[in-house]
Amino acid sequence: MPGMEMPLSWVALLLCQVALAARPPHIVFVLADDLGWHDVGFHGSEIRTPNLDRLCAQGVELGSYYVQPLCTPSRSQLLSGRYQIHTGLQHEIIWPCQPHCLPLDEKLLPQLLKDAGYTTHMVGKWHLGIYKKDCLPTRRGFDTYFGYLMGGEDYFTHDRCYEIKGVNKTVCALDFRDGEEAAKGYDQKYSTHVFTERAVDLIANHKPETPLFLYLPYQAVHSPLQVPEKYLEPYSFIQDQNRRHYAGMMSALDEAVGNVTAALKQYGLWDNTVFIFSTDNGGQTLSGGNNWPLRGRKWTLWEGGVRGVGFVTSPLLKQTGVTSKELIHISDWLPTLVHLSGGIINGTKPLDGFNVWKTISEGSPSPRVELLHNIDPFFEDNFPCSTNNETKKTLSNGIVPEWGNSLFNVSIHAAIRHGKWKLLTGNPGCDHWFPPPNSSDIRAFPSLESSTKNLWLFDIVHDPEEKQDLSDKYPKVVKKLLSRLEYYSNHSVPVYYPDDDPRCDPGASGVWGPWE
Ligand SMILES: *[C@@H]1O[C@H](CO)[C@@H](O)[C@H](O)[C@H]1NC(C)=O
Ligand SMILES: *[C@@H]1O[C@H](CO)[C@@H](O)[C@H](O)[C@H]1NC(C)=O
Ligand SMILES: *[C@@H]1O[C@H](CO)[C@@H](O)[C@H](O)[C@H]1NC(C)=O
Repeated sequence: MPGMEMPLSWVALLLCQVALAARPPHIVFVLADDLGWHDVGFHGSEIRTPNLDRLCAQGVELGSYYVQPLCTPSRSQLLSGRYQIHTGLQHEIIWPCQPHCLPLDEKLLPQLLKDAGYTTHMVGKWHLGIYKKDCLPTRRGFDTYFGYLMGGEDYFTHDRCYEIKGVNKTVCALDFRDGEEAAKGYDQKYSTHVFTERAVDLIANHKPETPLFLYLPYQAVHSPLQVPEKYLEPYSFIQDQNRRHYAGMMSALDEAVGNVTAALKQYGLWDNTVFIFSTDNGGQTLSGGNNWPLRGRKWTLWEGGVRGVGFVTSPLLKQTGVTSKELIHISDWLPTLVHLSGGIINGTKPLDGFNVWKTISEGSPSPRVELLHNIDPFFEDNFPCSTNNETKKTLSNGIVPEWGNSLFNVSIHAAIRHGKWKLLTGNPGCDHWFPPPNSSDIRAFPSLESSTKNLWLFDIVHDPEEKQDLSDKYPKVVKKLLSRLEYYSNHSVPVYYPDDDPRCDPGASGVWGPWE
């Protein structure tokens, strides 16, 4: 009966359209490692990043986007949506032999997305602790995992060498895994290629009806400076050897992003994908990175350490081709992405992140007006700040007289942002401005401030380069921000930073992994 067919197929079509409209987007999150502000084409770098430039131009650049100054901290906040003062990870990173991981009572982003019906894959660097199996990515919400678990290693052999403290023994072993098993057979295969191949494979085999979360934290462009020769060819004009290698590594990463986005298009996922690109912290000037014109670098609370390269590209964005000036932080991704997934925030501890989707997609004001960069009472900066090996020492008894009544100890390494204002206290880390290594002036611009200073106030909106300290001019703002630091300090959990456990030694297995 032809008369019956019409309404039936019409109903089927309608149902199909309803399903399509309600279908949560695929989420692909590419995290670069140690990528500096001045290291992408769209920030005027001499490094060529045509794929990133194009994707950024088609999407929304996050122009006032903040990350943490180090690997473990940024990754912990991305996946937990919580500040380090709430997870005990305020100090440095998780070193290979510390019996420590992102606390197991934190419910993480991939677990929430799984609750919302997503398939979750991770390819790349973990760096959130490995001392027991329950800490591994496959136990924390990822259906599959391929990559390395610690902070850095050889790009070709995938070996990590580490001196175990307390026993004075240096061990080199493989850190490369497929799921929970050692991934052997990748010797001399460059990690940017290996991870891209795996990502493309996952995309090719993914059923578009199921929402996909692909977390792709690349090894590039973290030290060691290693790259296949062919990527160096376009950069013979760069004299500085570190910078030239770094540039080649960045080109390989750019090519990788091109391959991943091409695969998303080829396999029919792109039209319903939200693609996010982010760095994990500022560039390390000692290893080829550059944050010009921002002050400082990785490991510091100056803008060069915490203002991150980032953008979102998606057919689902309501605005495109714009740079957002709204305050957005890496802890905001968890609530933002769970919102996009149609899921709910259930089982997490109180979040520090905000849902910023309307800010990104529509240009609405950011719900975030304040940002705690960090409070770390044990901070040390032992890296040479400039060529003369100068390091900026922590001031031990540095209570500046006029703030002597503050209940927050201003000798402590801390920084907070509120609206346009940023307050830094203690030793924020190396405070120089580093021009791009290939520029005619190869000297770093040292700060002219006396080394006894331990409090600064900047209007970041008008002075993103942190040139003019306004603390004398706006004492009321200083007092208000110190009271906020005091509040956060009072609501912090203690820093957890255990000694190395010699049982981490992989011994004859030759593979780093859980030891408890
Ligand atoms: C390890 O080295 C340090 C300094 O080099 C030394 O003080 C310590 O005694 C050594 N410990 C062991 C167990 O050898
Ligand atoms: C991108 O894909 C091309 C073509 O398959 C391949 O030759 C190249 O190595 C890939 N690049 C990366 C970084 O994986
Ligand atoms: C929240 O999670 C708990 C356990 O993790 C579960 O029992 C409960 O059903 C969840 N609530 C909702 C609304 O999904």
